Amino acid sequence: MRFECWLVNVFVQTKKLAQIQSGKLATNSISEKISFLRSIVGNTPLIEIDKTNGNAIFTKLEYYNPLSHSVKDRPAVYMFENAIKKRIIEIKDSIFIEASSGNFGIAYGLAGRFLGLKTIIVIPSVVGKTTYDRIKKTGAMVEKTPDGYCPRRNERDGAIVKVKDLWLQNPKMEYLNQYNNPNNIRAHYETTGPEIWNQTNGKVEAVVLGAGTGGSIIGISKYLKQMNPKIKCVAVQPQENHHVQGLRNYNESLEPEIIQKNRKLIDEWIEVSDKEAFRTTEYLWRKGFFVGTSSGLNYIASKMIARKYKNLNVVTLFPDLGLNSFKLMQEQIINRIKVNYN
Ligand SMILES: Cc1ncc(COP(=O)(O)O)c(C=O)c1O
Repeated sequence: MRFECWLVNVFVQTKKLAQIQSGKLATNSISEKISFLRSIVGNTPLIEIDKTNGNAIFTKLEYYNPLSHSVKDRPAVYMFENAIKKRIIEIKDSIFIEASSGNFGIAYGLAGRFLGLKTIIVIPSVVGKTTYDRIKKTGAMVEKTPDGYCPRRNERDGAIVKVKDLWLQNPKMEYLNQYNNPNNIRAHYETTGPEIWNQTNGKVEAVVLGAGTGGSIIGISKYLKQMNPKIKCVAVQPQENHHVQGLRNYNESLEPEIIQKNRKLIDEWIEVSDKEAFRTTEYLWRKGFFVGTSSGLNYIASKMIARKYKNLNVVTLFPDLGLNSFKLMQEQIINRIKVNYN
C-alpha cells in the first residue's frame, strides 16, 4: 500500500474517532453503544506484501482499527461486551482496572470512556512517554510499576501484581484480566480468523505471529484449524531481554493462561532478535508502512517460514502503528548511523 493511501485511511479512521469523542453517535443505551463499537472495529485490510521462495506473504493491517490503531481494539470491545451481557456494567460506578503494555490500555480507556465507564491502566515503567500520554488522553487513570518489557519469570510481574492487589482491596473494581479472559480469544476466533479465511479465499496455509497475551495467535489458530487442520500455526518469540513492546518471551517471562491452556494449537516456535525486528521495521518504514516493532518481527519471521517450507501461503499481522515505538526506533536508527554499520 502506498503512503498516500495510508494517510487517507488514517484520516477516515480519525474521523470515526472524532465522532466517538464528540458524542455525536452516543445514545443512552450501553448495548447500542457497544454495537456501534463492534461495527467500527475489525474488518481490516489484508494485502499481499511479498513473495519468498514461491510463497506469498500476506499481512493484515491491524492499525486500521480506530481506537488504539492496533489489534487490541478487538479484545477490548469484546471484553466490555461480555461484561455488559453479564450485567457487571450495570454498576455504573465500577472502575475497570487492567494491566497493559500500551495498546490494550489505549483501546480499553477509549472504549470505556465512550461507554461512560471509569478505567485504570497499570503499565510497566519502561513504556515510553508517548504511550503514557496516549493512554492518559483517553481519560483513563494511569499507574506505573517498575517493570521491563518482559517481566522475569521468577520476579514479580509488577503491573499484574499491582492490578490484583488494587482489585482485592477495592470492591468497586472490576478486573477482566486480558491474560486469562476467554473473550480475548473469542474476539480473534470470531473476527480476525474468519476475516483471514475469507480474504485469502481459504488459501491460507500458515499463520506466523508474535504473542503477548496470546489472544490473537490462539483465537486465529483455533478458527483456522477448524476450517483446515493442516494450517501451520507458528508463534514468534522475541529474544530474551527484548525491547519489542507488546510481546513476551515465555522462556524468561511467565506464560499467560491463554497460552498454557492452548499450547496444542501452536505447531512451531521461532525466535527473532531485537536487531532483526528493528532492522525489518526500519525497512517497512522506508516502504511507507509506519508500523511498530512487532510488525517488523512478524514480517521477518514470516519470511523465515516462507524460506523454510515450499508451497505455503503465509499470513501475518501488522499489529500497530509506529507511534509507541517511534522514539526507540529513532534511537536505533541514529545509533546505527553513528557507528556506521550497514
Ligand atoms: C504491538 C503489539 N503487537 C502484538 C501484540 C500481541 O497480541 P496478543 O496479546 O493478542 O498476543 C500486542 C499486544 O499487546 C501488541 O501491543
